[in-house]
Amino acid sequence: MNLARHPRVPLSPWPTPLEECPRLSAALGGPHLWVKRDDLTGLGLGGNKVRKLEYLLGEAVRKGCDTVITTGSLQSNHARLTAAACRRLGLEVTLVLEPGVDPSGRPRDPRDLPPLQGNILLDRLFGAEVVISEDDSEEALTEKMDEVASSLAARGRRPYVIPLGGTNPVGVLGYVQAALEIAWQASSNGIVFDHVLVATGSGGTQAGLHLGLALFMPGVTVHGVTVSREAEASARRVDGLVADTADFLGLSSNPAPPAVVHGGYVGEGYGIPTEAGWEAIVLAARTEGLVLDPVYTGKALSGLVGLIRTGRLGPSERVLFVHTGGAPGLMAQAEALEGYLSQREGREE
Ligand SMILES: Cc1ncc(COP(=O)(O)O)c(C=O)c1O
Repeated sequence: MNLARHPRVPLSPWPTPLEECPRLSAALGGPHLWVKRDDLTGLGLGGNKVRKLEYLLGEAVRKGCDTVITTGSLQSNHARLTAAACRRLGLEVTLVLEPGVDPSGRPRDPRDLPPLQGNILLDRLFGAEVVISEDDSEEALTEKMDEVASSLAARGRRPYVIPLGGTNPVGVLGYVQAALEIAWQASSNGIVFDHVLVATGSGGTQAGLHLGLALFMPGVTVHGVTVSREAEASARRVDGLVADTADFLGLSSNPAPPAVVHGGYVGEGYGIPTEAGWEAIVLAARTEGLVLDPVYTGKALSGLVGLIRTGRLGPSERVLFVHTGGAPGLMAQAEALEGYLSQREGREE
């Protein structure tokens, strides 16, 4: 296998830091915890998608494309980072975003301007063209992207379409590469991990880690904490991506065991904060100064807390939490955070 064979554009200094979390470990009464700081990837306020974009945009540049189209929710970190990366590379960018919901939870009218906060504020700052889709189904978003791509091509542009979350075998290579980086950091610091845990949305990040660690650090268990789909559907999706990526890399066989994805931490749905997620966000902030978000990393850490509290992760285990970024999503939920903090302070009085 030769990752260097695949075109890649540099978007960040590597490696990201690998840090020990003694105060968080102590607060949870147990496992020895480290955090992989992929929130510090050096572009557009950072996050996991930078790793995928190095390969996706590497392919776009290799193909001579001049305009990138991608999709996501209104508060998509992937869309924001795609916009930032395109600016870095001198490419045009169109984001097809879901209409989202209004503060009362009703679907928003796609013709109304969404509130400019968090990621969508940054999309505007990067000067991305934003198209709001009629509805939020994956089919509607894909159809809209195809429509935008055809109309750009008819005007002589060369569009490159990136699927939801940057998740396909090309994007997954970013996290195969990350697994190599983690294995190298672990061995040069004399650390042996038993478990690696990450938030799972479209599944590409977990798939890359799962395949990469099966190759470079066998013996470690990769845990995904789903933030959207049911756990079983999510695991099937990760397994499919792992198999496709192994194929894409030309491996003679797929070395990875079946994916492990934990459910029970999504709450009412994707993007809707949970009490356990807020608890985890406050815990990480107040023990280690880490900034997690209510959509991905807060729910992932609440999964880790759940695995510890139910005894599935024991006090002697060595666990790496992959911090995938997402802080702009926290900024878009200021009122909900304030509500949680006031309630908590009321309980503590
Ligand atoms: C902050 C953050 N963490 C985790 C994820 C999940 O990554 P994936 O979609 O590769 O599962 C995302 C996806 O958008 C994200 O923005």
